[in-house]
Amino acid sequence: MTPPKVVLITSGPTWEFIDPVRFISNPSTGRIGYELAREAVSRNFRVILISGPTRLIPPKNVRFISVVTTLEMRKTVGRFFKQADCLIMAAAVSDYRAANPRTQKIKIKQPMSLKLVRNPDILQKMSKNKGKRILVGFALETRDLVKNARLKLDKKGLDFIVANKTDIRQMPFGNNKISCVIIDKFGNEKKLKNISKRKLAGVIFDKIDTITQRHSAA
Ligand code: C5P
Repeated sequence: MTPPKVVLITSGPTWEFIDPVRFISNPSTGRIGYELAREAVSRNFRVILISGPTRLIPPKNVRFISVVTTLEMRKTVGRFFKQADCLIMAAAVSDYRAANPRTQKIKIKQPMSLKLVRNPDILQKMSKNKGKRILVGFALETRDLVKNARLKLDKKGLDFIVANKTDIRQMPFGNNKISCVIIDKFGNEKKLKNISKRKLAGVIFDKIDTITQRHSAA
């Protein structure tokens, strides 16, 4: 019997503290990552779910690891990447962190400026040792959706990317349904309108199956 495939899924936001009581983050709820984990379990994958802070209950039968910051997420992804056949980065990773997080609460004074430094790009780093693994990314854009998503697909060495557009009236965070476009490295584009995150998880794993079959036929 062949051993089950291992999928590593990241989800949720990351938090970057500027002092012990304040942090920089985004409104990600983590829902899509948890749906992906659920779908993967139902397809007999061995699932490792690495999650930033969310209010969700982890699905049954997954190895669940909770992290807070991007650096913790990177370290944990790095720890499990070797055993993974597939990495899905659904996390809304904070691109910046405070250059000098304070150990004491910052006292209010006006104006205040904050120095930020770039966080590492986890996907881009992992793609350097991609091997035969399948890498999947997400992109949330406010303009030039397909153009920007394609650039990320190439830059981060992905097999495919799930891109959705947002504006102030159409925030995807926490919604149960989204509209998105899946763009793969072969140039295919698939538009999905108003699909539930549960169904989207199924579409993503169907795509992973197709790519796996293509790899084994090659
Ligand atoms: O933030 P960005 O639009 O570049 O995110 C695109 C993809 O890259 C997402 O899948 C996200 O999880 C991943 N990412 C990452 N490390 C970062 C920023 C984003 O792995 N520092």
